[in-house]
Amino acid sequence: MNVETASATDARTPPVAVWQVIDRMSKEELVAWRMEEPRNRPSIAERNLDIGFPFGWYIALKSDELAVGEVKPLRYFSQDLAIWRGEDGQVRMLDAYCKHLGAHMGHGGKVHGNMLECPFHAWRYDGEEGVVKEIPYSPSIPPQVKRKCTRTWHIKEANQFIWFWYHPDDVAPLFDVVEIPECSDPDWTPYDECRWDIWGSLQNMAENGVDFAHFKFIHGTATIPTAELGWGEWDRTGVVRAKMGTPKGEVDGAIHTHAVGAGQAWVRFTGICETLLLAAITPIELDRLQVRYFYTQPKAQAEGPGAGVARAIIKDVNKQLDQDKVVWDRQQYQPNPIICQGDGPIAKFRQFYSRYYAQPSAEAGERAGFGSGCDGSHGCND
Ligand code: FES
Ligand SMILES: [Fe+2]
Repeated sequence: MNVETASATDARTPPVAVWQVIDRMSKEELVAWRMEEPRNRPSIAERNLDIGFPFGWYIALKSDELAVGEVKPLRYFSQDLAIWRGEDGQVRMLDAYCKHLGAHMGHGGKVHGNMLECPFHAWRYDGEEGVVKEIPYSPSIPPQVKRKCTRTWHIKEANQFIWFWYHPDDVAPLFDVVEIPECSDPDWTPYDECRWDIWGSLQNMAENGVDFAHFKFIHGTATIPTAELGWGEWDRTGVVRAKMGTPKGEVDGAIHTHAVGAGQAWVRFTGICETLLLAAITPIELDRLQVRYFYTQPKAQAEGPGAGVARAIIKDVNKQLDQDKVVWDRQQYQPNPIICQGDGPIAKFRQFYSRYYAQPSAEAGERAGFGSGCDGSHGCND
């Protein structure tokens, strides 16, 4: 489809520049593009993304992706990890490399009772204590691994996901995982998933929600929306209200966003068809995010005569992420952005978001733009 056709057939008014990139792809090309590594990407340092990872609860896997007795390798936060589900049903996770001779325990490791057994020489690790409990061929256990010798991870299961707590200094969880009622409601559909790799940072992605002007130019909204924003201790909320045109006339629609820490985020769409989006976004590297969008809708709406509308909402939200991705994949972080009147509260967002980083050093804080840059005095809605 060429750009002119896209502009003419899309319900939204202004032509959107990124359609040039997205709309010429076939369905298969689009799916491949969502996961592809961009070529000639600038370095992490060149893009100012070397400011560390924000702490919080993050999704490791969907609960049904790890069976009892199963071990899997993971890579998040620039670290190799091994996760397993013991015979007691509990999930545990350790740093992947064995203290003995360095095997990656996520590849070929196995579950022994509730312990993780290394594939190389069968040393057995306790996931809670982070110690080696058994070495089948040795009469003794070296003292260095008899005491805590490896990082243990806090794990929770909620909303059909396995969550882990990330903090760069291994500080214990400062808040909890929020249970979302729709996620375990049998009257709501099983998750519908769409997946991307985004070659950028979590903070840049999160900032998008308060970047009001981009909604017009990237997503093609007729006007620049505004949102009612709420700032809690660890959570932030946003509500955007809009009239939506339907065959039955205008309805009042609303989009409620909620984020707790840097890793938990969900969105409720109301109006045409209720939709809950759980955004599972977990950093792999400083410039690479694993993004999995999980949607659930009331079965009565998603499986009835309104099924087409319900599908269209999901498709539209996925399309919006495609549009943002064109920018995010190469966006440079501007620690001291030049803000103009009409921009959303970017400075307020950054000031708030800085609490998700472990005590930034003065230098790192300056590079990240915390406590500097826009002071709101020139009309940026703070
Ligand atoms: S490397 Fe793990 S037991 Fe030897
Ligand atoms: Fe966006």
